[in-house]
Amino acid sequence: MSKEDPYSDTQLTALGLERATLPGHVAIIMDGNGRWAQNRGLPRIEGHRRGVTSVRCIVEEASRLGLKQLTLYAFSSENWKRPPRELTLLMHLLRQYLVEERREIQRQGLRFRVIGTISGLDPMIQEEIKKTETMSAENDGMTLCLAVNYGARQEITEAVRRIVSGVLQGQLQPEAITEQTIADHLTTAGMPDPDLVIRTASEFRVSNFLLWQISYAELWVSEKYWPEFREEDFRTAMRDYRKRDRRFGGLNPGNPGTK
Ligand code: IPE
Ligand code: IPE
Ligand code: MG
Repeated sequence: MSKEDPYSDTQLTALGLERATLPGHVAIIMDGNGRWAQNRGLPRIEGHRRGVTSVRCIVEEASRLGLKQLTLYAFSSENWKRPPRELTLLMHLLRQYLVEERREIQRQGLRFRVIGTISGLDPMIQEEIKKTETMSAENDGMTLCLAVNYGARQEITEAVRRIVSGVLQGQLQPEAITEQTIADHLTTAGMPDPDLVIRTASEFRVSNFLLWQISYAELWVSEKYWPEFREEDFRTAMRDYRKRDRRFGGLNPGNPGTK
């Protein structure tokens, strides 16, 4: 058995996990790159660089655990407020990741997707995104989704525009608009909602990430900065998720006092 093989049930048990109680979709707000670097007297971009190593480790771990989807918040629509130099380096790292990661994506059989306003990115990056998405479209492993130039309010606004335009053209009756209609017009159409949202670097906020989709997601915050967040931290989050009691507004029949 090679180190990248999916975990067997026995291995999962040894890790304190079980297949039935693993989340299907985990979404991560990868935060703290800058602080990690600054604490070491390094430029912020070193934190972003080291963050790519964490991305590689967590993608592989999520895939070995057999998750259906891993969504990583890589760049928000608000991150354009950063200094030009940091933006240039971030975009350079993104492009490099898209190119260098193709082999790994294919080797692990991942389906690669990007959500966010792709048209707002450098055309060369748009090209690399398309290439990686097309190349991996037929793979049947975990979906690896990168949120780039992503903002949930923008996503919802765009969905409303398109729905209204459908109504004005007579293709849709206002009464026929359901929650599913809205979900179908988001960039995440067809993807499952996240079961668990992880945020690193001790920040307890969602920063415009998947606002519609996380309405019933479990939240888990790590004290670790993203560049130091590794497989064991991810498994700790999975073990904690295992103990959560998801009620979706109802009552859990197994709980005392339900009757
Ligand atoms: C997360 O790390 C990466 C991006 C938002 C691109 P930060 O760059 O936000 O790091 P901190 O929060 O300043 O430490
Ligand atoms: C959220 O991190 C966005 C990403 C991780 C890409 P930020 O560092 O941009 O969030 P705020 O500004 O602290 O809310
Ligand atoms: Mg931050």
